[in-house]
Amino acid sequence: MPPVVIALDGPSGSGKSSTARGVASRLGLAYLDTGAMYRAMTWAVLERGVDVEDADAVAAAAAEVVIESGTDPQAPTITADGVDVAGPIREQAVTDAVSQVSRVPAVRERLVALQRLTIAEHADGIVLEGRDIGTVVAPDAPLKLYLVADTAARAARRAAEQGQDEAAHVEATAASLQRRDAIDSSRTTSPLAKADDAVELDTTHLTLDEVVDEVVRLAVKAVPDL
Ligand code: DC
Repeated sequence: MPPVVIALDGPSGSGKSSTARGVASRLGLAYLDTGAMYRAMTWAVLERGVDVEDADAVAAAAAEVVIESGTDPQAPTITADGVDVAGPIREQAVTDAVSQVSRVPAVRERLVALQRLTIAEHADGIVLEGRDIGTVVAPDAPLKLYLVADTAARAARRAAEQGQDEAAHVEATAASLQRRDAIDSSRTTSPLAKADDAVELDTTHLTLDEVVDEVVRLAVKAVPDL
């Protein structure tokens, strides 16, 4: 039987991470945050002093980096070259550079291969969140979701996660999200895109529990043995 894969794609702040972790916990499945892998790669590239606008230099540096992800939805972990980077990958310097690093084809090839290996290791089931899971990483996934939310809601959620909800910060966060969305959607190699067979879910006016309930309902329908 092919591995049970739930693919959750969508732009930044659409609620993917919390939803994916909630669904994986509820159904007893593994969890993989592919955005964290691109962030870890970006952290390692920046550590090496590489100019992220130089795609060849990024590709050369990325070939040396070892990324490892833990798949427990209650306690996900991420390391780059053996260093725990769970904290540093959320810093602004990484957020500002991650879209540039993610558009380099050699980076995507390496990380997609790693993601497919992780899927194969978790044949019982895994929830993956990202931008290209339903289109590229796992096109045969029995359930694909594409989460969206309006920009104001996405920026407010990100700012709240960072414990900074003052208007100026929310506005700057909205601008940063829109900038990344534009780069992520327009790159040549596996851009952010909704798979033709993905279910679109607008989370703007839904609570996290409501979104998790809906995805679990769809998952049980799509994979009756879950
Ligand atoms: O989900 P996130 O915001 O942590 O993702 C960070 C960046 O990583 C995002 O701007 C684009 C990139 N990314 C990607 O290109 N492909 C994925 N599957 C996941 C993330």
